[in-house]
Amino acid sequence: MLDIQKIRADFPILTQKVNGKPLVYFDNGATSQKPQIVIDAEVRYYQEINANIHRGVHTLSQLATDAYEASRGKVKEHINAKFAHEVLFTSGTTHGINLVTNGFASILKPGDEIIVSSLEHHSNIVPWQMLCEKTGATLKVIPMNEDGELILEAFDALLSENTKVVTVNHISNALGIINPIKYIIEKAHAVGAAVLIDGAQAVPHLKPNVQDLDCDFYAFSGHKMCGPTGTGILYGKEAWLNKLPPYQGGGEMIKEVTFEKTTYADLPHKFEAGTPNIAGGIVLGTAIDYLNNIGFENIQQYENELLEYATKQLLEIEGLKIYGTGKNKASVVSFNIDGIHPYDVGSIIDKLGIAVRTGHHCAQPIMNFFCIPGTIRASFSFYNTKEEIDSMVEAVKKAKTMLS
Ligand code: ALA
Repeated sequence: MLDIQKIRADFPILTQKVNGKPLVYFDNGATSQKPQIVIDAEVRYYQEINANIHRGVHTLSQLATDAYEASRGKVKEHINAKFAHEVLFTSGTTHGINLVTNGFASILKPGDEIIVSSLEHHSNIVPWQMLCEKTGATLKVIPMNEDGELILEAFDALLSENTKVVTVNHISNALGIINPIKYIIEKAHAVGAAVLIDGAQAVPHLKPNVQDLDCDFYAFSGHKMCGPTGTGILYGKEAWLNKLPPYQGGGEMIKEVTFEKTTYADLPHKFEAGTPNIAGGIVLGTAIDYLNNIGFENIQQYENELLEYATKQLLEIEGLKIYGTGKNKASVVSFNIDGIHPYDVGSIIDKLGIAVRTGHHCAQPIMNFFCIPGTIRASFSFYNTKEEIDSMVEAVKKAKTMLS
């Protein structure tokens, strides 16, 4: 059992008032709040060891480098990568995905096919479309059903020897549906395709085991898992990272530079040009420690309780419809009220201190599927409470009365 009040005390922002009301923060899918230990670690880095990494022989540079590489090692353990050099620091999931699509530009050719799913965030659609434009490859889409679940028979039928890449999110940001990625990875590998998993919405809720999943790439962001913004990780299997060309040219990604020819550094540095977010990378390790201390099993169990509770309470409101009714779900409830624009509900409940995301959630194809402009999305974290859900439900009822 988690001691939620004790956990809440770790997050200074949660005691704030917004619009004169106690903050109820249900926009965790967009970004999580940060515990004091993470905030302190960021400050401590700048107070004590700030220096550039992998460059100086001086003490501070060594300390910063060691801390940065120790954090890489922590991520390696956390996701069970085989080697630390398979863990690349990025600025976030979008950066990781673009790094991969950029690499595949030199591999794909006309006639090749890329499969994405209809549940993707724009950041796992647009880079692949850009790649298709560059290479002449074709984009295929795994359809979904009314419950927001991918139709696996249709996925099977899309696979062929032309399939070169398959990419899906682990958990849908807009609906919270957990995708059967193990099945998808196995099937994709059977036709020789590489698989990228967008884990942005998964890592706050679970601990991905990349070797067990056998995915080729797994991208995620630090800021959704209690870490700083501008941090992220791209895991890539060694063989793939060796095969892909660098994403950006610059300092520290080279072995030797002459005007005739440049040779590239070994992994992971080949993909880490320029001065990175050093503090952020180090502090991401602190965030991972924090989450592991709470325990992902505890987190999942508690968040499932919140999901069940919220779903039940919300469905008691007449005219309210939940999108994403599949069985396997993370703690996200996306909903609308008959005849009322989601933006209007979001604005009114914000005045009551409730922070939710409204709109298409960067997943317009999902909204088009349901023929809606957007939804109201409440995404819960382990520091939320049932009392907060009660406040949201009351606020939604009030908004409904005002807007009907
Ligand atoms: N991708 C983030 C979300 O779903 C920003 O809100």
